[in-house]
Amino acid sequence: MYKSKILGLGKYVPDNIVTNNDLTKYMDTNDQWIRERTGIEQRRWAVPGDGNTTATMGVKAAKIALERARLSPKDIDFIVFATLSPDYYFPGSGVLVQEMLGCDTIGALDIRNQCSGFVYALATADQFIKTGMYKNILVIGSELQSTGLDLSTRGRGVAVLFGDGAGALVLSRSNDDSDILSNHLHSEGKLAKELSVLAPGALNPPNKLVEDWDPEDLSYYPYMNGNFVFKHAVTRFPEAIMEGLNAVNLTPQDIDLLVPHQANLRISQFVQRKLNMRDEQIMNNIQKYGNTTAASIPIAMTEAWEAGRIKRGDLVVTAAFGSGFTWGSNIIRF
Ligand code: UT7
Repeated sequence: MYKSKILGLGKYVPDNIVTNNDLTKYMDTNDQWIRERTGIEQRRWAVPGDGNTTATMGVKAAKIALERARLSPKDIDFIVFATLSPDYYFPGSGVLVQEMLGCDTIGALDIRNQCSGFVYALATADQFIKTGMYKNILVIGSELQSTGLDLSTRGRGVAVLFGDGAGALVLSRSNDDSDILSNHLHSEGKLAKELSVLAPGALNPPNKLVEDWDPEDLSYYPYMNGNFVFKHAVTRFPEAIMEGLNAVNLTPQDIDLLVPHQANLRISQFVQRKLNMRDEQIMNNIQKYGNTTAASIPIAMTEAWEAGRIKRGDLVVTAAFGSGFTWGSNIIRF
């Protein structure tokens, strides 16, 4: 078995900043509610005409990751792209990145695991490196969520949470002690509808939505049973982290940096308390970007690396929970 190493990290977010106060133009909400319940102060939302799509933002993040890895698109053997907001219903966004970056006709795999998407994507890429099938893999998490939100007061419980952006990393065969030490992935499909967008889908195709137009049918907007999701999240995050650490005989005190999916600052603080970790062991940037779903971990990891909070040899742990329900962790010797 080969070992895997993160060679380069990159991120991209749209220029347009949307503050909590800006949201009061659309809906009955306020800065205090959003800050107290979520920690979010602002998010980035693409604006029509700025060229940002899930694929183009992924490409921008990937170019930075490639440059930092000192690799060119021709060196990449495979693309793993995690998103819940693909440019098209099909094909997936990975193939668009292959074209835009000018990679050879390499494989491109889309991952549909929402907030856990990047944890799943990294675990998937790791398997291809470990078996020796590929040497350099581009792993991308990208989301354009602002175009799919219900901006009326009816949708405020969800709309204020989500932001746009992308993060990427290059995972390569390691020739030193760097490695992904463990991956743990879970799902519980009986709770699929608690956090979901049900249409369009093969059961709710566009022609049916148009023909049976029902203004009360909101199945094309994200639905979240907020409290229910919150309660599961605060259980599953620590569980996934401990499962990963136990598998490699390490403890929360060994972690140099925990990079959790940025779902809610209160969830991260709960996890921190539960695992008895110090402030400097946790990366939080939801304040600036909101919840960017599959992009949140690579954006946060990139910012942490840029700020010198991740160095070679550090123990970096990711964890995520979200729609599916799905959850998981990656334990990384950076
Ligand atoms: O990333 C994937 C996983 N996602 C998560 O883990 C998110 C988990 N859930 C959460 O983070 C929280 O449940 C939320 C932040 C979504 C909501 O916070 P909450 O403390 O659970 O609030 P709530 O849904 O119980 O709503 C409390 C009140 C309600 O009013 P009433 O019924 O008490 O009068 C809501 O209507 O707050 C109201 N409310 C708002 N008020 C102002 C809901 N959204 C808003 C809003 N602005 N944006």
